[in-house]
Amino acid sequence: MDCLVIKGGHRLSGTVRVCGAKNAALPIMAASLLADGPSVIDDLPQLQDIQSQIELLRLLGAEVNRSADSVSIEVKDPSNSHAPYDVVRKMRASICVLGPLLARRGVARVSMPGGCAIGDRPVDLHLRGLEALGASVDLENGDIVARAKRLRGAAIFLGGNFGSTVLGTANVMSAATLAKGTTVIESAACEPEVVDLANYLRAMGAKITGDGTPRITIEGVDSLHGARHRIIPDRIEAGTFMIAAGITHGELQIDNVRIDHLMAVVDKLRTVGVLVVESGAGVRVSSQRNLRATSLTTQPYPGFPTDLQAQFMALLSVADGNSIITEKIFPDRFMHVAELSRLGASIHREGPTVIVEGPRHLIGAPVMASDLRASAALVLAGLAAKDTTTVNRVYHIDRGYEKIEQRLKAVGADIERMDEKELD
Ligand code: EPZ
Repeated sequence: MDCLVIKGGHRLSGTVRVCGAKNAALPIMAASLLADGPSVIDDLPQLQDIQSQIELLRLLGAEVNRSADSVSIEVKDPSNSHAPYDVVRKMRASICVLGPLLARRGVARVSMPGGCAIGDRPVDLHLRGLEALGASVDLENGDIVARAKRLRGAAIFLGGNFGSTVLGTANVMSAATLAKGTTVIESAACEPEVVDLANYLRAMGAKITGDGTPRITIEGVDSLHGARHRIIPDRIEAGTFMIAAGITHGELQIDNVRIDHLMAVVDKLRTVGVLVVESGAGVRVSSQRNLRATSLTTQPYPGFPTDLQAQFMALLSVADGNSIITEKIFPDRFMHVAELSRLGASIHREGPTVIVEGPRHLIGAPVMASDLRASAALVLAGLAAKDTTTVNRVYHIDRGYEKIEQRLKAVGADIERMDEKELD
């Protein structure tokens, strides 16, 4: 198993380009199952999750050809509509084939995703939404089995105790494109990834309005054709590089950034003393002085994203003063707390809130990645820490950050990928 070995204390400087967004690409690739004819998706990141989605689409009868950062997808054999446990347990986002399969083929069988390192991950809202469109939904041998001859448009409320649901909105919106009549999704997720999916669906011939707001309206059509679509830049990767510049007191030009997708993050970075200015096709981020503490609460978009909470915690552990972080989307998403503490961070958790006492001088140690964003936080902390940090189980980070060590190295980090066994 690979690990990352980081010798901290180097200021990052130079230019880095952000990849296409994984979390936009996964539902968009799944939505290709709705089309008659081929689709081409551009600016796909080279990630394990994208590869898993390609394998799932092939299993579901699509011909998928990948070249550099593009992929073409065309359904050739619609006879298998089963996403089995082996696939879904590796990648929870496989759930986003449920709506497209049901709408296009009249049946979908998708293994019920379990919980994961970031806590409970129910799919009740996805299922309620599809039932409202007229599907029957059953649980058979651990699989969700959804059936409908033709879906019917309906008014659907997708709000839950923790806000709306991003992939649930993707599933219901995708399914409704082929329903008979009009669907209105209330309390829809407003995330840029949902808007990107809507743009793709529109290019395929769907009739959707209101995406990016809590009310999305979809007029069903009889069929959709393939389309070409470029994925939006990954706002979470961009935010991670911004924090990398801040935590190392460096200066990075980060290209391919939609700053309008990152307003809450930029606001917090500026509050703690990191300089962020728009520059060319991206942003220039630098930090020359001591950082200040702040408080932040994760929220649905356009609030501060849960997917940057762990990385910002690493930053706040070296900031001057006491910070407060409250996690409102996944209240148990704190696996990184114990690992950051191993590097010398002073963090106290009370339920969904943590207090970060700073500044702490981080000191390298072996640590364990538990999930994608937690591992990014550990890498960031390692960049700032004295001595050597070894981040084990980096397959987590490979799920969401393309060639992370090469890109950090190119801007001055001392970071190597090694086989854990070589270190024994
Ligand atoms: C997406 O997950 C992202 N994944 C997550 O990113 C991200 O953390 C999350 O949205 C929130 O922004 C992908 O896009 C592939 P949700 P998703 O449904 O859609 C509750 C990463 O690190 N809920 O919006 O599965 C849920 O428990 C990943 O890249 C229900 O109660 O998240 C949570 O509290 C991790 N019932 C809240 O809603 C449901 O049916 C939001 O979850 C569905 C969700």
